[in-house]
Amino acid sequence: MMRAKSWEDDMKASSICYPAAVLLVLVGMVWGIQMAMSQDHSAMPAHAHLNLLGWVSLFLFGIFYQSHPAIDRSGLARAQVYVWILGTVVLTVGVGLVHTDHPVGDPIAAAGSLIVLLGMLLFGWLVLKGRSDEQTAGRRLTPAE
Ligand code: HEM
Repeated sequence: MMRAKSWEDDMKASSICYPAAVLLVLVGMVWGIQMAMSQDHSAMPAHAHLNLLGWVSLFLFGIFYQSHPAIDRSGLARAQVYVWILGTVVLTVGVGLVHTDHPVGDPIAAAGSLIVLLGMLLFGWLVLKGRSDEQTAGRRLTPAE
């Protein structure tokens, strides 16, 4: 029997990653279909960034968090996911504007790129912290000689 979804499940970083990744790729796919139908591929770099940051990367973060339950439940992991989603949306809008002849998109793309950079730095910190926590736990479990 399937376990009922609890409040704690909703608080997990991976529980945010998966639905957000599906939502973003659905937008990206509809955008791709629209590009193909209109035969105007000028916004292609924005479509590519939305799908690669919003679908592929976010889904990979979800897999990592799910396989590290202690990190998955941390507030910093949830913050990392929200920063990443925000950066993805801002970068996509900026790149889309730049490639459709709207120079106003330039500073927006720049801001988005810094936000996703921050998101990746946060993720890097969580990965390193997770590794050192695992090593400490491993040492504690090693029987005395
Ligand atoms: C319904 C689904 C999709 C449609 C209809 C679609 C459509 C398109 C179209 C028309 C282009 C422009 C191709 C060109 O001008 O050379 C494109 C480019 C691209 N798409 Fe999609 N796409 C879809 C889903 C995805 C997904 C899921 C991803 C990533 C996981 C993705 C990643 C890319 C990338 C990276 C490019 C740039 C390729 C290049 O540099 O030549 N797309 N897509």
